[in-house]
Amino acid sequence: MASKNATLTMHDHTLELPIYEATLGPPVVDVSGLSKHDIFTIDPGFMSTAACESKITYIDGDKGVLLYRGYPIDQLADQCDFMEVAYLLLFGELPNTDQKAEFDTNIKHHTLVHEQIYNFFNGFLRGIHPMSILMSAVAALGGFYHDSLDISKPEHRLNSAYRMIAKIPTLAAMCYKYSRGEPYVYPRNELSYSENFLHMLFGTPAEDSDVNPVLARAMDKIFTLHADHEQNASTSAVRVAGSTGANPFACISAGVSALWGPAHGGANEACLKMLEQIGDESRISEYLAKAKDKNDPFRLMGFGHRVYKNYDPRAKVMQATCHEVLNEVGAGDTPLFKLAMKLEKIALEDEYFIERKLYPNVDFYSGITLNAMGIPSTMFTVIFALARTTGWLSHWLEMLSDPSHKIARPRQLYTGATERDVVGLAERG
Ligand code: CMC
Repeated sequence: MASKNATLTMHDHTLELPIYEATLGPPVVDVSGLSKHDIFTIDPGFMSTAACESKITYIDGDKGVLLYRGYPIDQLADQCDFMEVAYLLLFGELPNTDQKAEFDTNIKHHTLVHEQIYNFFNGFLRGIHPMSILMSAVAALGGFYHDSLDISKPEHRLNSAYRMIAKIPTLAAMCYKYSRGEPYVYPRNELSYSENFLHMLFGTPAEDSDVNPVLARAMDKIFTLHADHEQNASTSAVRVAGSTGANPFACISAGVSALWGPAHGGANEACLKMLEQIGDESRISEYLAKAKDKNDPFRLMGFGHRVYKNYDPRAKVMQATCHEVLNEVGAGDTPLFKLAMKLEKIALEDEYFIERKLYPNVDFYSGITLNAMGIPSTMFTVIFALARTTGWLSHWLEMLSDPSHKIARPRQLYTGATERDVVGLAERG
């Protein structure tokens, strides 16, 4: 409900625009009525535009706050497993014991993928980037699960969401196995969500898996930390696709595509590549100088954030988890990790980085952690997509359950040619 109005005077109009208060964060001015008066707003990159109303995630970048449904991210990562967090994002409250058990069961009963999907994978080249397989495989699911595609029915929407959350680790692990030419490993329902993923990733059909609990807990935290981040590029892509009535698998595939870019989900892969490029502690100062040089496009990957200008609250949790994993696998002494730790220390003490509030972000530590777990950097964005699927679905469900939602159809400021007549080809010379 609007409590106040903003006044806009333009052409011959003086218009009263409703201001809506947020429960947290700044209020917004409702400009949706402007089009009736042939007035439009422009905002490239949506820097000043709230695309929707949402109750799922809140970020305060200046204070370093990230809340899922009101709960701080560090408390969720420490006290809940990923299935509890997924339930929270989807339904708005943390589950009680019975709700958790029922949710776990629902997810576990959907982890297998149709056997035809194995044939679908065979069409790809072996060395291909796993994100391109994942994008296509997720979209293909829409062709296999017709019985839950009527998005006007809440039970179909929920069933599709369960299917997607359950099958995305299976598909992600298949991408990895396929790229290595190794046999696929079927899911095991007695394992937790993150244990099952590690089992499908590193197991073999020839023997029982022995999933390391420290690594499973670290993977679970990576899932929680990446599960949602309000209206980021990939979530917005899912909402835009969903606003047309597209099936849920097509919408999630749109999210996977948008996530792939290095400015979004590709940053932890880029961070690892940068560490490999630096190669040795003796070259840190050379690369710091490159990062500070305005004529050099090089940036220190894994440092800085568009929204978090104080610190990234996910990075704090990830830093501790990163050290646990390094200790567990005995990787703390390898040259790459020593280099990463030295770089972190030097950058944190450097005036350039301090002045600009450029702290290590979640991707700096998640890249190092995943690498220590033995996961190749091309899989990092796949794992991000796996985790973010729950957030994407929560936003998709929220949007479709709002009866007033509309197709996303932005307008433009046209600066092209004015109307002119076509001249025949022969006369154009
Ligand atoms: N290395 C060196 N200088 C930097 C860096 C960096 N990583 N990040 C920002 N700066 C400088 C920038 O040159 C500018 O300097 P000046 O004020 O002298 O012109 C100042 O800091 C402010 O930078 P900005 O470009 O205005 O900041 P932004 O909010 O537009 O960019 C960012 C945010 C994340 C794109 C950027 O910090 C960056 O490119 N970081 C490296 C990539 C990275 O790690 N991305 C992962 C983000 S976390 C994933 C997620 O949440 O999706």
